[in-house]
Amino acid sequence: MTAATAPAKIILFGEHAVVYGRPAIAAPVSQLLARAEVRPGSRKGLRLLAADIGLDLSLQEAGADEPLAMAARLTLAELRLEAPPDLEVQITSAIPIAAGLGSGAAVSVALIRALSRHLGTELPPDLQSALAYKVDEIHHGTPSGIDNTVIATGKLVYYVKDETLETFPVGQPLSILIGDSGIASPTARAVAGVRERWRADPGGYESVFDEIGQLTKEARACLETGKPARLGELMDQNHRLLAQLGVSHASLDRFAEIARRAGAQGAKLSGAGLGGNIIALAAPSTIPHVEQALLEAGARQVFRTEIGR
Ligand code: PMV
Repeated sequence: MTAATAPAKIILFGEHAVVYGRPAIAAPVSQLLARAEVRPGSRKGLRLLAADIGLDLSLQEAGADEPLAMAARLTLAELRLEAPPDLEVQITSAIPIAAGLGSGAAVSVALIRALSRHLGTELPPDLQSALAYKVDEIHHGTPSGIDNTVIATGKLVYYVKDETLETFPVGQPLSILIGDSGIASPTARAVAGVRERWRADPGGYESVFDEIGQLTKEARACLETGKPARLGELMDQNHRLLAQLGVSHASLDRFAEIARRAGAQGAKLSGAGLGGNIIALAAPSTIPHVEQALLEAGARQVFRTEIGR
């Protein structure tokens, strides 16, 4: 048996604006993993099993728009294998689905890694990322590529679509709490909504993207030099600008406000929005208060992750 995992991710700054060429910063969440296991199959051909979502697919019969099948097909094509080998691939994931945590890209990367490794080739992270990007294009037509990039590299990244991919050192380790609203929100819907409103008001939307781009640049400097108080303010600002883009939700505004009141230095929605999760920056002494406040307010789950530790 060959197994491989891939982490979830959070976007610290710059979601949505990153689709329009502005920078974004994202971090892997190694506490939450997708996992793929490959073993010899009892039937002919390749079988994909994901019990969590009730999926049992034969690769030959799977449709072209089935993301897991596409990840498997792209991997086999990369390895120049024309006929699918007789294998069984089992996928499990602890990452909430449609919650802005990159579950789709993580599952793709775990599958690509496990399958290629089982077949004797370790694909480099940039190639894993490129294949996962192609799969992500099914979910929404215009992905920026940040999800597959941060998940395949497993590092904190500063990212500009088709231009910049940098990792950078963090001046002071930070704790982030992730509060899951429990409201499922497919990325495609939020991205399509922004696109529609941008078409109706390109000037207004471009200027919000510019503001997000500027604060993302400043946030990188604050991360590098270790300025959590300013970072928190920038998260709050970023949340307000995302709300202006129309991708917040009453619950996300409320959870972010509750986290701030419980002592978080800043909070914002993370990922596509309209549901999904919020992230809150919390100093060590306030972590338990923020966590408790979010749970009491109805967050479905709260995860904790560390940046730069
Ligand atoms: O997959 P999500 O929900 O984390 O959203 C990805 C971030 C967006 O900027 C909204 C879309 C993209 O392609 O970058």
